[in-house]
Amino acid sequence: MENSVIPNQPSELPPESRLMSSEFTPEERARLADAQEGWPTQQECELLFLSFVRLMPKSDVAAASFYESLFAKHPEVRPLFPTSTREQEEKFMMMIAWIVEHLRNPDEMAKTCIELGERHRALGTKPAHYGPVGEILVETLKAYSDPPLSDAEIAAWGKLYGVLVRLMA
Ligand code: HEM
Repeated sequence: MENSVIPNQPSELPPESRLMSSEFTPEERARLADAQEGWPTQQECELLFLSFVRLMPKSDVAAASFYESLFAKHPEVRPLFPTSTREQEEKFMMMIAWIVEHLRNPDEMAKTCIELGERHRALGTKPAHYGPVGEILVETLKAYSDPPLSDAEIAAWGKLYGVLVRLMA
């Protein structure tokens, strides 16, 4: 992963899928096939990229606000995290930037997210935690995007989060 929260413009076409190659275990293959059904279209990928770039100037405050709102509205997840979430704020934003940048490369994106989901399970994250995190993520994007997110952008973020849940939870 690049050491920057600024994503590069995604390439136009996804490379040939390696879905059936031995790089994927049967479980990973099933997760990716499931996720591909809800994958954002090329137009939605562009909306996601451009709307995330708009958030960049405020990414630090947005990330801090994300965890503050998450813990205020869903205190049950607080004990999973260390006392200070400063480091986590940056990691989370960098991960979202990386995801937005790699949407046109589903195999690589899926492999990374499936592994991230495995690490989350080891940390005690349950499938039921993904709903609250997704809700607060979209709220945060809405609150900090300037100009505001369009309806199509909000829908694209919902779709992307659905893909992440299928890969990670
Ligand atoms: C699409 C959703 C999510 C993304 C993109 C994401 C991203 C990340 C990233 C990049 C890390 C750092 C991993 C590392 O250091 O190796 C992380 C850590 C973590 N995430 Fe998530 N996460 C997501 C959902 C969740 C959910 C639903 C929970 C549950 C409440 C959660 C709880 C945690 C915890 C507890 C850590 C470890 C914090 C620490 O010990 O420093 N994440 N997440």
